[in-house]
Amino acid sequence: MSDEVWGWVRAAKRIAVLTGAGMSAESGVPTFRDAQTGLWAKFDPSQLATEEAFRAKPSMVWDWYAFRREMIAKVEPNAGHKALADFALRYPGRLTLITQNVDGLHQRAGSRHVLALHGNIADDKWLDPPKACCNAAAAVAGSPPYCERCGNLLRPDVVWFGEPLPLRALAAAEEAARACDLMLVVGTSGVVYPAAGLARTSAGKVVIVNPHPSDLDDAADAVLRGTAAQLLPQLLED
Ligand code: APR
Repeated sequence: MSDEVWGWVRAAKRIAVLTGAGMSAESGVPTFRDAQTGLWAKFDPSQLATEEAFRAKPSMVWDWYAFRREMIAKVEPNAGHKALADFALRYPGRLTLITQNVDGLHQRAGSRHVLALHGNIADDKWLDPPKACCNAAAAVAGSPPYCERCGNLLRPDVVWFGEPLPLRALAAAEEAARACDLMLVVGTSGVVYPAAGLARTSAGKVVIVNPHPSDLDDAADAVLRGTAAQLLPQLLED
């Protein structure tokens, strides 16, 4: 661990943290773009993570998300998730946690007010704007569940390619990036915008935690080549 970076953490009054799939890799959740193990090495995102794909093959897409939900329900937050949650508890108001992850592991580790830019895989929402008859609790079980009256389908409440990010979470993340003295960018390839762009608007120093090169390395003041579960506990300890 670099003493200089450790000093930046100690001195920072406002820390923004942007996490990606690598944050949860040591919990056993596959990333998207790692060459052998990433989900997008085995599956085509355009067939699974777009509204067009869901409308064309709702059962296939629903089942793929159901499989990921089951897998995520079986894993646990790792030491990196816990280090972030513990730091925020020790220093209320000092850390804003922004994540691209939909796995809910930050929240399960005890982090509150997580800005989940890409939604939450555990939640559902209606595919088409809900009518008065659309009641998720009364949806007919199926793959996917649907409204008995109008046939509207439930879908996972995640942001698919081509969809806008949740406005309030994005605005809060942009403000946190603009106002921070330090941004930690953990476990993201930095290729998906607008989330990746937050690192480029950071008012403060940018520190990357990633065992491999990422598209954001050129925006960094320091790059720490290690994993989230190894480095975050060291970086955030007192
Ligand atoms: N610790 C830290 N970083 C890691 C670890 C680890 N243990 N293991 C892998 N990484 C890094 C990889 O080197 C890579 O840079 O995590 C990154 C994962 O990159 P992606 O798979 O592209 O994930 P992410 O950046 O979160 O993807 C962004 O793309 O498909 C969409 O919506 C999906 O939110 C996702 C978005």
